[in-house]
Amino acid sequence: MTPILLTVYPDECDVFGHLNQASFLSLFERARWETLRAGPGMGLFDRTGTWPAVRKTTIEYHASAFPGDVLRFDQDLTHLGRTSFTMRQVARRTRDDALIATAEFLFVCVNRKGRPVAVPREFNEFMAARRRAAGEVQRRTVNGVSLAVEVRGEGPAVLFVHGYPLDRSIWAHQMAALEGWCRIAPDLRGMGQSDAPDLGYSMETYAADLAALLDMLGVDDVVLVGLSMGGYVAFEFLRRWRGRVRGLVLVDTRAEADTADAKRSRDAVAATAREDGAEAIAEAMLPKVLGASTLAGSPATVERVRAMMAATPVAGIVGALAAMRDRPDSSAMLPGLAGLPTLVIVGDEDGLTPPARARSMTDAIPGANLVVIRSSGHLPTLERPVETTDAIQAFLGGLP
Ligand code: MLT
Repeated sequence: MTPILLTVYPDECDVFGHLNQASFLSLFERARWETLRAGPGMGLFDRTGTWPAVRKTTIEYHASAFPGDVLRFDQDLTHLGRTSFTMRQVARRTRDDALIATAEFLFVCVNRKGRPVAVPREFNEFMAARRRAAGEVQRRTVNGVSLAVEVRGEGPAVLFVHGYPLDRSIWAHQMAALEGWCRIAPDLRGMGQSDAPDLGYSMETYAADLAALLDMLGVDDVVLVGLSMGGYVAFEFLRRWRGRVRGLVLVDTRAEADTADAKRSRDAVAATAREDGAEAIAEAMLPKVLGASTLAGSPATVERVRAMMAATPVAGIVGALAAMRDRPDSSAMLPGLAGLPTLVIVGDEDGLTPPARARSMTDAIPGANLVVIRSSGHLPTLERPVETTDAIQAFLGGLP
């Protein structure tokens, strides 16, 4: 992202020579205008008949700045609503990279009569393109929860949804390798580096988080890739936002709901998580999620998955278990996916969602293809990353 550089002048400082707190407001505002000037132009809001009115300001002053200091201002959106948005700004001194001040401005867009109106699409797209170019892990607040999301590359968007109790790093190889696509991998609420609220987990909520996240990133439609629980989320997303999905990749997942036994087992696992913590869940799950070949021949992958699971917040584990227990059956949806290019991937050693189940799911989706990844269990993206990336790449390359 192009930062804005502004110099501190004596007339902005107090009698002790410090940059005055009131002057910060002007500098933050100047930095915002400069950001627009360097992008779509200062007339963006005027063109759309909207005006961003400041509703709330929070500034933290971290260190003093003095005349002659050059400050670097970085601007980013941390929340985007229909008529409001929050811009976070950070000011650092270029000479020593000292953090000088951070600020958050909440804006409400109003028309000339002062009535709230939608945030101009052009503005959101401009800010989103800046973020994509930055290619870093970002934090976005959606539905009241702060999510970590990694965005890499330019091009049509691919959204990667991980399983339970995992995080976005299961897609590391695909995120690095699938050039020519804008790759988006969030941590679902309750997992990875995202916030883990105590309550509020369901497939509907996970899917709504993803839709809101795409809105914030300025992305209309995606190729949706879901692994295991990520596949359950994908089915929910399709139920509500089919028009935003231009291709589907289902990895080691199933369309059926939990059986009565499986539901009981979810509650038992939740009790274990509450009593013994995430480590106990990781120990119990490792032999189930990883294939025999990985367990025997790839200790680094075993340790990586163990650490990922053990780091999952208990609230996120318990919430995901309840969400999976209560998810609806999506089998009836499969024939209706006709016309949506679909790839099903499964590891040949997956005991949780075995190849036979993947095959019957593929058969139920008109036109879908199945790729079986050899010597892999439930997590082919990690266990056989190259083969899995190749399969996804070939599918993406064939999309209309
Ligand atoms: C997952 O990998 O997401 C879980 O194994 C899914 C499940 O337990 O149904």
